[in-house]
Order: sequence, then C-alpha cells, then structure tokens
Amino acid sequence: MNEHDSENIAGMLEAIGYIHEENPNMADVLIVNTCSVRENADNRFFGVLGTFKKIKKSNPDFIVCVCGCMPQQPRIVEEIKKSFSWVDIIFGTQNISRFPELLDRRIETGKKQYAIVDDNPVVEEHMEPKRLFKHKALVNITYGCNNFCTYCIVPYTRGREKSRTVKDICTEIDKLCRDGVKEVMLLGQNVDSFKDPVTGEGFPDLLRAINRINGLERIRFMTSHPKDISDDMISCFGECDKLCHNIHLPVQCGNDRVLKRMNRKYNRAQYLEIIEKLREACPDITISTDIIVGFPGETEEEFEDTLSLVNEVGFDSAFTFIYSPREGTPAAKFEDQVPEEIKHRRFDRLVDDINRISLEKNSTYLGKICEVLVEGKSKNNDNVYSGRTDGFKLVNFDACSERELEGKTVSVKITECKTFSLEGVIVDETI
Ligand code: 5AD
Ligand code: SF4
Repeated sequence: MNEHDSENIAGMLEAIGYIHEENPNMADVLIVNTCSVRENADNRFFGVLGTFKKIKKSNPDFIVCVCGCMPQQPRIVEEIKKSFSWVDIIFGTQNISRFPELLDRRIETGKKQYAIVDDNPVVEEHMEPKRLFKHKALVNITYGCNNFCTYCIVPYTRGREKSRTVKDICTEIDKLCRDGVKEVMLLGQNVDSFKDPVTGEGFPDLLRAINRINGLERIRFMTSHPKDISDDMISCFGECDKLCHNIHLPVQCGNDRVLKRMNRKYNRAQYLEIIEKLREACPDITISTDIIVGFPGETEEEFEDTLSLVNEVGFDSAFTFIYSPREGTPAAKFEDQVPEEIKHRRFDRLVDDINRISLEKNSTYLGKICEVLVEGKSKNNDNVYSGRTDGFKLVNFDACSERELEGKTVSVKITECKTFSLEGVIVDETI
C-alpha cells in the first residue's frame, strides 16, 4: 500500500513536469514516504530525516516533504514541527492527491504547508501512478481498515474502510492492460470486506469481473482476512482462470486466547478449516502468512501453539514479526508485555521452523517445469533473469537468450531449490 502511494506521488510529479532524481544532493524536492506499522520504522525515520538537514542548509530552495502513515499521528507531527522545523510540507495518507497543490503553494508563498488528518477522505480516482514494473501493477480496491486488531496502528493512520466501485476498478485495469500490464495485484487491508458502494457487489463479484478483462493474464490480491473470507471467494479459485493459485492469509498466531486478545475474530480451528477448503478448491495453491510473536501475555505454551500451527499448515512462506507496541493501540497498554529477550528467542525458533518448511515446500519443485512471468534481470548479475510463478515463487534462471524477456511468460525447468527462491534453466519461451 505504501509502495503504491509512492508510485502515485511519483506519477503526479511527472505529470507536472518533474523528473526522478535518485541523489538527494541533486534534487529540488525530496519526499520521505513513511510507514509506522512497527516501531523500527518510527525510529529509522527520524534518523533518516535528520540526514537531510545539511542539504537544506546549503540550499534553501531544496523542498523537503514528509508523507505517509507517520504524519497521521499528531505526536509525530508535533515532533517534526519542533525538532525538524525546516521540513516544508507534511501530508498524510488521505491527502496524497493534494500534493501537487501543496507543492505549488509552498513554491509560490514560501510558506510551510500541512495537510494531515482528513475525517472524510475522498476515494481518489484520478491518479496516474508511475509503475515500478511495465508488466505488473498495483491497484487499490479498498482504502483504510475497520478491524481494529489490538496491536495494529493502520485503522488510526489510514482511516475507516472505503471501497471503490467495481466499474472504476475494472476501467483502471482495462486501461493498464492496454498499456502492456499482464498482472495486477489488488490491494486492500482486508480485501474480503470489499463492497461496491453503488451496487453492493462483493469481492468474489469483483474477481469475476476482473477475470473477464482482455489482455490480463494474472490476478493476485492482498490481504485476505480469515474472519471474512467466504466460500464464494474460495470457489473463485476454480472458476477464474486468471486468478493465481496463491493466497496471503495472515494467521498472526496459533492460540485461541491470544487470537481473542488480538481481536482477530476467528479461532485456530476456523483458520485450519479455511486452509482445508482452499486446498480442496485449488490443490496446488501456495499459502503465505503473517505471524506476530511475543504479543502481550503470550505464554510459552501459547507460543508453541503457533509453532504447531505452522507445522500443521505447512506455509510456503511467512512474514514474521516481533510484537512492537504502537502508541494509541489497545495492546500497547496491556500490562503483561513480554520481555524483549523472550520475544527474540521465540522469534528465532519460529524462523527456524518457517525456513525449514519453506525449503521442504520448494524442494517439491525440483525437476518440474514452471511458467514464469519474467520481472527483469537480476540486479547483481546481468546474465540472470528472475520472475514469479503463478504461486509467487521467485525463480532465477540463466539469460542465455538475446531476446528481451521482461514481461514475457517463459517455461523454466527447476534445477535447484533454495529456502527463498528456485533456480532453473529456460526450456522454451511460450510467448
Ligand atoms: N507489531 C508487530 N507486528 C505487527 N503487524 C502489525 N502491527 C504490528 C505490531 N504492532 C504485522 C501483522 C500484519 C503485518 C502487516 O504487520 O502481522 O499482518
Ligand atoms: Fe491492521 Fe487488523 Fe486492519 Fe490488518 S485487519 S490492517 S492487522 S487492523
């Protein structure tokens, strides 16, 4: 979501004549797009911001902007105004479309510009993002979140949930496909609660409508919520041929008492039942998840429930997080915070299991031929291409062909399986 905000900001600036400059010393405008989901991001932000003061001092025309989730929190804005008073523009996640106007006003008046909280954000339909990849695009389907998991700051920084219409989303994707896009990643904090504000259509209806768009090859979405995923959605895996056989379904933990205190509104048995249904509907589906360790009050036995769930499900991959108290969220006030040392120990045990299982899962691909949508050449080696399978496995293979393969689907035979990627050789270019 944050990356897509950056794409939108870059797109708006290009539309008014700016060009991208990687080196801050050479730039006229610098934008720091922030995340606040964990404390580490908070801490790094102030350190990074401080490093730009020198440029600002040597060049008063240099314009520094801070945006994203951090300025949605009043205490952060106060801190910026107090300790980083040279920051020119501050705007929040719900004011992105106002950025060009704020920039103009800052240049014209020389005055600082702030656009932070917005109680009634408009669903922005007119932004033209500058995409990171030619062949794949991020597409928002909802903004904000209504779930208030007790550890999470997102509902406070991104506001209440708002869905776009099926029509607007399909129009955007149709346009993207005419521009060469083959794969879309639909974005929402909880895609399963998508509801068209005009027609009342839900997420499965949206998937079916997108599946009919000409030129599109792959549909992905993120993130699903176990409390809202429906049988109708699961049946889309059998029905929609463009829907990738992959799902990111955060479980957060494997113990019912902790899940309740997290306000996740499902239990372990219900989560396992969804996994079973997904595998029934789509036997080769790959499944990834998010897990938090060291949530307040988590006992050793409760943590072991998470380990046993991880082993029972057999996730293809998992994002693992050490619980990080976020000011303003209910869990930050829970009194039974787990000591750092214990959190780290549990985290290491979890990561060991996850990595072992990922390698086991990846090993089943040895000798198989996979269809890979090529993302580009490897950053470190010009002779190696990388791309993704339908199941989101990262595949690296030798670029023996002189042809430009980016954005093409090729067949790759898997010759080596690692924990986080597969290696292979190109068999033939199917397109
Ligand atoms: N501490 C640790 N992890 C968190 N996440 C969200 N909030 C926190 C927090 N306070 C994780 C969740 C979520 C992912 C995006 O970030 O696992 O699914
Ligand atoms: Fe945060 Fe929960 Fe909303 Fe996800 S569903 S963004 S974890 S509050």
